[in-house]
Amino acid sequence: MRQTRGVRKIHVIGIGAGDPDQLTLQAVKALRSTDVFFLLDKGEVKSDLTRLRRDMVDAHRPEGGYRVVEARDPERDRGAGGAAYSPAVEDWRSARAGIYERLISEELGEDGTGAFLVWGDPSLYDSTLGILEEVLARGAVEFEYAVVPGISSVSSLVARHRTGLNRVARPVQITTGRRLAEGFPEGVDDVVVMLDAHQAFRKYAGEDIDIYWGAYLGTPDEILVSGPLAEAAPRIERLRAEARERKGWIMDTYLLRRHPDPGES
Ligand SMILES: C[S@@+](CC[C@H](N)C(=O)[O-])C[C@H]1O[C@@H](n2cnc3c(N)ncnc32)[C@H](O)[C@@H]1O
Repeated sequence: MRQTRGVRKIHVIGIGAGDPDQLTLQAVKALRSTDVFFLLDKGEVKSDLTRLRRDMVDAHRPEGGYRVVEARDPERDRGAGGAAYSPAVEDWRSARAGIYERLISEELGEDGTGAFLVWGDPSLYDSTLGILEEVLARGAVEFEYAVVPGISSVSSLVARHRTGLNRVARPVQITTGRRLAEGFPEGVDDVVVMLDAHQAFRKYAGEDIDIYWGAYLGTPDEILVSGPLAEAAPRIERLRAEARERKGWIMDTYLLRRHPDPGES
């Protein structure tokens, strides 16, 4: 008798950046057709984020009929700076690839559908897609995967501040705090900064720049500050330190808008 083997399927679901109401209808459909949810926890400080994912699954699968598999994400060597930065990220990615490979091959049946719930949008500063490609390239397990876009923290930030990302016919750049600390990007006056543990905006407080800052966007702890950078920077520093102390972790994003806008003058 001929054996027909099934193909494992994976949903990579963007879940929005903190507000459960940011789940799209497409994301909910994908949640409803999932057999096994893989939740990767980065440690105690991020366990709030794992709980939020679990709550989302519970809310949209009240009838049950699924499994949740939790695993520990390996910590990245964040001490490695400069030239060592990329190899550190690469090592971390392959360690994660090993974990994802094991999760998919051991926890998901050959006809099963699994899902990774990705914070915000999977296209933005997230390694899930790269890791899944690495798992496929290793060749030990086969699967198909599809990506469900999510509302990113960048979309949330500008929506909450009721502003656009770019000015008329002008470019916008999304970058990291690490890069901003090296210099303001050239050829662009609107810059969104993510992953900034060191408040790189302080370096530009003497310039004619407005900041639109948001922490814990979409959650009950959300904090928003906007205005001229010189005035807003000390306030953000204070609020940020207080919030970090209170919760033990912080996620913040900001838009820097440099003036004068050539289009307006
Ligand atoms: C690893 S990146 C993931 C980004 C995510 N894929 C997205 O689409 O927003 C994490 C960074 O996103 C930003 N971020 C994510 N969620 C946020 C939130 N709720 N409030 C403020 N910033 C957030 C912060 O800059 C944080 O350092």
